[in-house]
Amino acid sequence: MILGNSTEVKSLVELRALAVKFLDGIAKNEANKGATVVCMSGDLGAGKTAFVKCVASVLGITDVVTSPTFVLEKIYTIPAGSVVGTRFSKLIHIDAYRLRSGKETSALGFDEIIADKNNIVFIEWPENIHDALPKEVINLSFSYVDGNVRRVEERISR
Ligand SMILES: Nc1ncnc2c1ncn2[C@@H]1O[C@H](COP(=O)(O)OP(=O)(O)OP(=O)(O)O)[C@@H](O)[C@H]1O
Ligand SMILES: [Mg+2]
Repeated sequence: MILGNSTEVKSLVELRALAVKFLDGIAKNEANKGATVVCMSGDLGAGKTAFVKCVASVLGITDVVTSPTFVLEKIYTIPAGSVVGTRFSKLIHIDAYRLRSGKETSALGFDEIIADKNNIVFIEWPENIHDALPKEVINLSFSYVDGNVRRVEERISR
């Protein structure tokens, strides 16, 4: 567990602080054989894309991070000297909202992406491609509380 069972996030500033904590935890974790995969579930507008924006900012990625709902996948280069050190070279942001099965990930080069331990992969709507996901993933569940308040829960299994 990196974040603990459940965290209430009251603002985007707090969400960014959560991204710092998350990346610190990832950096301390033992390296995976393949990519580090973070599955983000939760309703429309619950803050999944907002969290990836925070992660990208904390990693020093200066590209504008936008939702990959239409393009399905975006790949960003992580600058050297980020908080995760040299562990990761690419941040990959996938939005599976429009996909209907894991088979549809082949066009995204998904198998190669998850085989590469230098990748950290954030997936929105992971349940849609459940059959293509690796066994070990980090699950984050986002929910809307009210106003600017969101809840982020970390679960062990998918
Ligand atoms: N504490 C907070 N955490 C996350 N987002 C917040 C928070 N407060 C306000 N917001 C706002 O809520 C919206 C969350 O939208 P976001 O695009 O991240 O949702 P999403 O989970 O990716 O939805 P979708 O499934 O449609 O892609 C953003 O406009 C964001 O700025
Ligand atoms: Mg989104």
